[in-house]
Amino acid sequence: MTRRQEIVRQLTAHTTGSPKPEAQAFAPANVALCKYWGKRDADLNLPVSSSLSISLGSLGTTTGLRLRQGADHIMADRLELSPDDRFCRRLSAFLDLFRPDADTGFVVETRNSVPTAAGLASSASGYAALVLALNDLFQWQLGREQLSILARLGSGSAARSVYNGFVVWHCGASDSGMDSVAERITGEWPELRVGVVIVAGSEKPIGSREAMARTVASSPFFDRWKAVAEADMHQLREAIGNHDLELLGTTAESNAMAMHALMLASRPPVLYWTGATIDVLQRAWALREDGVPVYCTIDAGPNVKLLFLDEAEARVREAFEEATIVQPFGE
Ligand code: DP6
Repeated sequence: MTRRQEIVRQLTAHTTGSPKPEAQAFAPANVALCKYWGKRDADLNLPVSSSLSISLGSLGTTTGLRLRQGADHIMADRLELSPDDRFCRRLSAFLDLFRPDADTGFVVETRNSVPTAAGLASSASGYAALVLALNDLFQWQLGREQLSILARLGSGSAARSVYNGFVVWHCGASDSGMDSVAERITGEWPELRVGVVIVAGSEKPIGSREAMARTVASSPFFDRWKAVAEADMHQLREAIGNHDLELLGTTAESNAMAMHALMLASRPPVLYWTGATIDVLQRAWALREDGVPVYCTIDAGPNVKLLFLDEAEARVREAFEEATIVQPFGE
């Protein structure tokens, strides 16, 4: 039995009874304010440091699930995908962990509540929705922390997408990863807004999984990252507790810059930004100079996410007509 299979067995062994005919679940996309970058265990997606995110409310993935005889059928946004597709192969390999027997397949239908091209449909909401749907299909009745462990096996950042609001994913210390769980932290902040600015439709030069491994192996600054992330986690928690946008924004922005700096110094370098990314950053900083409190974060891609409050929304809309603006704490 592999370590991944052992974890699934441990968490689901209590289940009796047969699966439901079908199940469906939704999980939100999330934006990391303190990034997950670097694994201490690539097999179990165990991070070197804790991370903190904000979930994006109704923007995310809905996944329907049922069992069938034979191979998996995977549909994304109503299009049937070829089993040789990279996305399908990764999904089916993950589903192998939950397959009742080798002859049983899954029919998976995923729908994103924003166009995939908007850059919000990530593996995070996808694996989280899938695990929530599996929990319903097999009637495991697992708690969210346990579900975050299963979602993490699909994609690290998915551990955080099993919750709404602000979420901390604790790095944990055990080899089994049973303490590497995500938890929602208290703190509603109805005035907070996230703007997503899409700058390019082209394929990423390198997937985040590979880029992360390369950073750990070759970035000369990687040994500083753990301390940076720990300090940023403290500041973000304080900012959330006090509704302090300046502290939240400056910390998240600097954390993202530090992550991209690690990548730039890797060998060979990893650069996700395009000229348009820099243009958005400079426009946001100019707006800030002009007295509008707006801050930036960037994940493993060229798009920029803006952090600001409702009172700045009109100015941000005016400056970034292309932005999708999200209210993480409800409409
Ligand atoms: C930059 O969760 O996609 O978005 O665990 O290998 O699937 P895997 O990586 P993934 O990496 C996300 C990286 C990030 C930062 C973050 O979401 O914290």
